[in-house]
Amino acid sequence: MLRGKKIIVGVTAGIAAYKIPLFVRLLKKEGAEVQVVMTPFAKEFVTPLSLSVVSERPVLSGYYVKEDGSWLSHVELGLWGDAMIVAPLTANSMAKMAAGIADNFLLTAVLSARCPLFFAPTMDLDMFQHPTVSANIKKLQSFGYHYIEPEDGELASGLRGKGRMKEPEVLLKVLKDYFSAKQLFKGKKVMVSAGPTHEPIDPVRFIGNSSSGKMGIAIARAFAAEGAEVQLVMGPAGQDALFPGIHTTHVRTAAEMDKACKEIFPEVDMAVMAAAVADFTPEHPAGEKIKKSAAPEVIHLKPTRDILAGLGKMKRQNQLLIGFALETENELVHAREKLERKNLDMIVLNSLRDSGAGFGTDTNKVTLLTKSEGPKTFPLKSKEAVAMDILMAVKSLMEG
Ligand code: CTP
Repeated sequence: MLRGKKIIVGVTAGIAAYKIPLFVRLLKKEGAEVQVVMTPFAKEFVTPLSLSVVSERPVLSGYYVKEDGSWLSHVELGLWGDAMIVAPLTANSMAKMAAGIADNFLLTAVLSARCPLFFAPTMDLDMFQHPTVSANIKKLQSFGYHYIEPEDGELASGLRGKGRMKEPEVLLKVLKDYFSAKQLFKGKKVMVSAGPTHEPIDPVRFIGNSSSGKMGIAIARAFAAEGAEVQLVMGPAGQDALFPGIHTTHVRTAAEMDKACKEIFPEVDMAVMAAAVADFTPEHPAGEKIKKSAAPEVIHLKPTRDILAGLGKMKRQNQLLIGFALETENELVHAREKLERKNLDMIVLNSLRDSGAGFGTDTNKVTLLTKSEGPKTFPLKSKEAVAMDILMAVKSLMEG
């Protein structure tokens, strides 16, 4: 799995750094090219000489000047890697990574990495339990970094508890699994729509809805983590997917979303349309801010284009189109009607009658319907877990 893969190994100043020469050796045995990058203080725990010998490359720590006199920049390194793993990762370097601080070569490489990034924190029990540490782990995960959880066991302080870095063999397995053919959507191109749309009344006011974009982002990330190239068309939800493998097109109105989706759709293998698109838009938005004294009694609305139905008409034989249905009554009847009318392969039904489902929450409860199969209802889950259920259902549509 790792033959020819270029792996950047970032080492920070944790005692577990003494295990990294063995990890590098295991990577080399698998046929990977390894570039070790160290923070200045990490050199107190393991020597650059040992790591250079096992990796067969000079270790980088400062700005490295190449034989031809040019320098290897962090940007170049960030583009070189197929994956970067920071192990061990101290609480200090983790906090800097979470804050975007770049005061050494390793941290600049982290900021410029365009490849998947794995991090293996290691620290003493009490430090690990501090709320800042958990918050930083969450933040790094929200950037799409893969968390390699420490284990319970004996710690350098003599205490026992959570904080030990996983053994080199386990770190190797994490990378091998990532690069294995297990990635369900490797080589596939996927479009995902997410968030609300804002329909202007005047330059400062709009009609919108409270969609947070969380469900669509979770779907986009799940596809990217499974190897797909993702085009995310994102309404103004105030958050970003920030994940390697996702290209985001930001739009504001239903008309802009329609245009972007229609441009992208012919290029993709499948589309999952999770956006909460406004059904109506003001017919004549005012060019200037409407004065209170001149407020209209009535705002005339006109229907927006149904983006999903438009894509249903454009759909080629080998493309899959998945829509959402947000219902409050007669859910299954309405969802099946939308599935047929919009020429979809699957519809994800959200009932607003289920608490914890729908807009703004971190959880969702869905029922999946396809043309050939009856409804499949899932329990209330995190939006990430719901995204995985949707991916598995799309995978079986693809296969059959
Ligand atoms: N949708 C769309 N364009 C619109 C409205 C909705 O692409 N102008 C898509 C949504 O992204 C979602 C699906 O259509 O995937 C269903 O949205 P929903 O609001 O449940 O249904 P509507 O088709 O708008 O019908 P109704 O409001 O009558 O329930």
